[in-house]
Amino acid sequence: MRCGVSRSCCHSPVGMRPVQKSLCVLMVLTASLAFLYLHVWSQKPYSVVDLRNRPDRAPEQLLKDHLLVPDKKYAHIAFRIKEEILELLPKNSCKCEVEPSMNLPFQKHFFGHGWSLEFANVFNPAELPEINSMREQEYRRYRERSQSSADQLLIVQANSPLEYPAQGVEVRPLQTTLIPGLSLQAADRTLYRVNLTATMGTFDVAAEVDGVKVEGEGEMHLIMSGSQLDNLNRQMQFVTYTNTLFHPNTADIVQFSTDEHQASFAIRIRHLLTPRLYNPGSSSRGTPGAEYNVSALVTIATKTFLRYDKLQILIDSIRKFYPTVTIIIADDSQTPEHVQGPHIEQYFMPFGKGWFAGRNLAISQVTTKYVLWVDDDFIFTPRTKVEKLVDVLEKTSLNLVGGAVREISGYTSTYRQQISVQAGNEEGDCIRMRQGHHHSIEGFPNCVVTDGVINFFLARTDKVRQVGFDPRLSRVAHLEFFIDGLGLLHVGSCSDVVVDHAPKIKLPWLKTESEKQYAKFRYPNSSDNSVIVKHSLFYFKNHFKCMAGN
Ligand SMILES: *[C@@H]1O[C@H](CO)[C@@H](O)[C@H](O)[C@H]1NC(C)=O
Ligand SMILES: *[C@@H]1O[C@H](CO)[C@@H](O)[C@H](O)[C@H]1NC(C)=O
Repeated sequence: MRCGVSRSCCHSPVGMRPVQKSLCVLMVLTASLAFLYLHVWSQKPYSVVDLRNRPDRAPEQLLKDHLLVPDKKYAHIAFRIKEEILELLPKNSCKCEVEPSMNLPFQKHFFGHGWSLEFANVFNPAELPEINSMREQEYRRYRERSQSSADQLLIVQANSPLEYPAQGVEVRPLQTTLIPGLSLQAADRTLYRVNLTATMGTFDVAAEVDGVKVEGEGEMHLIMSGSQLDNLNRQMQFVTYTNTLFHPNTADIVQFSTDEHQASFAIRIRHLLTPRLYNPGSSSRGTPGAEYNVSALVTIATKTFLRYDKLQILIDSIRKFYPTVTIIIADDSQTPEHVQGPHIEQYFMPFGKGWFAGRNLAISQVTTKYVLWVDDDFIFTPRTKVEKLVDVLEKTSLNLVGGAVREISGYTSTYRQQISVQAGNEEGDCIRMRQGHHHSIEGFPNCVVTDGVINFFLARTDKVRQVGFDPRLSRVAHLEFFIDGLGLLHVGSCSDVVVDHAPKIKLPWLKTESEKQYAKFRYPNSSDNSVIVKHSLFYFKNHFKCMAGN
């Protein structure tokens, strides 16, 4: 082996004394050995990971086709399809049909018309094929990233003499665990034999039992055999699994077999999730039922744009009830004004950055357990009891809870939305919005479980950050956040925590200059492209082809 080092050190043109020379030879030798060692080491199995292919891709043999198509054996047996149940099952495609109306008197008045939107229409037909192919590629990669063997369908064969853990075995990446629950309940025979096969780790035994032969310790294939069943079963209690292929969150599907019988089970491989805990503040400790310290638990976040008069009214109203709660203001006004006062943090953004960008900035700066989202034209009143919302989040599994907004007319709205997504085909999926809720909540008579709520909500800070507000939605946007959060957010809505909405309507000639400018940005005319942006995000980002609702 030639060594790059030798050129510069051993054949120095200046000439070397013998001591130097032998030192140099030693160095070259050491370098060569190190290289050799590295070379050998790198050839050891499992030291190189090809992350281009998913390490936890479903093993082919598990997805047997005959599970999906009817068995020939049963082909002659007659059956009668129940359309009304078949209707409920997921299909290969989906449609955003307007739901048949309920035909109640005043139905339109209370629930509005059904509606349906197709999102592909916002694209130029000439561009659509390219957009579709890019979307398909990104969607496929997303599914590869987000699905793992832990989600795989496993079917247990009939009358298996094998006992094994169906779920719940977990190991940290590159660490070792005992596999509990392995045993064989076979009829008498002269030799009992079981095999274990893994793809992302190796097996071993933590103890050796007399009369049992174990082969393949430290490998992905472990064979145990013996003439006494009890001894074999005792041996199986000592079987360990060591993960050798690092992945922060996946699963190894282990094959467990004996003569004529085979079973599969999953060993979950994942890092322990790191918690983000927040200190609830001193007064929340001690006596049960004590008032929550809202200042220690909640930050109020808002986004303003040119409406400093409204913002000041909001701040003054908050201070009447919560003098020390932190208020975070994201501000993208053209000529920003400094908002003065204690416990106020104002963040300036480039002009007109937009609605969701501002929400994102504001929540990124929150350091308390909860964040209360308010619009800059809300007004706190004695009915704006933030501690009631805190109580709901502290005592339930919900991670976001909305309140109600009262208009100047006295009309109060909670804007509860049920959101559901039906899987479609390569054209995209279908999303449906309905006003309403799923359940009422035991112990909280004014609260319900739903999927989306009004602009006035308290949420766990870590959860809203996890969902995030897409900064591409710059103008009118709200439910998009709840759509992005499906499956992450557990949403409630309480009608007894109410914030007032400052009067909106003013005679045009009484409007100030900044109000006119605000109106121009907030209520764009039809030439504005914000609807196109929204629909193209639904189409590409969320993989929806259409939306329907009422
Ligand atoms: C166990 O593995 C060995 C070696 O791969 C194989 O010969 C044998 O048939 C397997 N036995 C069972 C019960 O799967
Ligand atoms: C509530 O929390 C704030 C902020 O952490 C703290 O300054 C204040 O002393 C607490 N109030 C009580 C009554 O403990």
